[in-house]
Amino acid sequence: MKNLEQNIKIFEQELKDALQSATSYEQIEKVRVDFLGRKGKINEIMGQMKSLDLEEKRIFGPKINQLKQISEQLYEEKKKQLEEDQKKIEILKKQNFDVGAYKPTQLRGTLHVITKLVDQLEDIFISMGYQVADGPELETEYYNFDALNIPKDHPSRDSRDTFWFDIPGLLMRTETSAIQIRAMEEQGVPIALVGPGKVYRNEATDASHNFIFGQIEGLMVGKDISMGNLIETIKVFLQRLFNTENLKIRVRTCFFPFVEPGIEFDFSCPFCKTGCSTCKRTKWIELGGAGLVHPNVLKYCKIDPKKYSGFAFGFGIERMAMIKYGISDIRLFHSASIDFLNQF
Ligand code: DAH
Repeated sequence: MKNLEQNIKIFEQELKDALQSATSYEQIEKVRVDFLGRKGKINEIMGQMKSLDLEEKRIFGPKINQLKQISEQLYEEKKKQLEEDQKKIEILKKQNFDVGAYKPTQLRGTLHVITKLVDQLEDIFISMGYQVADGPELETEYYNFDALNIPKDHPSRDSRDTFWFDIPGLLMRTETSAIQIRAMEEQGVPIALVGPGKVYRNEATDASHNFIFGQIEGLMVGKDISMGNLIETIKVFLQRLFNTENLKIRVRTCFFPFVEPGIEFDFSCPFCKTGCSTCKRTKWIELGGAGLVHPNVLKYCKIDPKKYSGFAFGFGIERMAMIKYGISDIRLFHSASIDFLNQF
């Protein structure tokens, strides 16, 4: 009997200690299971009642019931206290909210500077009524050379200039001009398009040459399309690109097999009046080639050169970006340098 009385006291103390040191819901749940659960200590004490005689049972029965009630009460009180503590913590958290605290942010990607420029170029030409055309980067010899009136012995067909495939007649396109041919074949005349895309040249790289770069091809074919239309179109395009009405252009004759006559465009430096590093102190900047579509090219596309005429142009996209943003090395565009890209 003494033993049982002692056990009751020990139980009460142990329960109080365990509840006191519990600091989470999981911990008080463990205390409940250990002490009040089916296989817990209180049932153990109740089991000890069996060996008592009737008189003793009469004394200890109510004591153990009381112990059970007290224990449950202690447990409930502790649970309530934990809930209140939790609420206080939440309130404190809100009160101490630090709007200036550092939160590691995820790096967000942005469009590449070339992608942004291409979007702008497309927008300018779309606003002038042009469509945007596309073509494959893996091209056939026919579209890349033959139909562009490029002779069989032209040096650009050499494997030192062009990435050929083992499969005869297949290459990585060397110019976006191939887009014109496919579009004229498919749509006929009248037609007005721009075709931006990547081109590939098998050549050594330096600050102004890369083996991969972007070009934008332009083409307009219809009735009475003239050199005047070409020059005015390019002038308006450049004025919009550099956002200035004061831009002048000049042309020089130049040879490209797919145009006749062929010309090269220069434009007045939009950044200076007296010469700067962008225009190499000349006040003029070279843009790229253009001309009136060669009659042979029209014939390849089943368009009658006696009835229709047109102009074409092809400008380097990285070159335009270098001029627009003052970038001195073309290789930076493909360098994947975050420091470089973050500037745009
Ligand atoms: N395809 C030429 C090149 O890669 C650029 C070019 C010049 C395109 C004259 C044209 C053009 O359409 O008429 O250098």
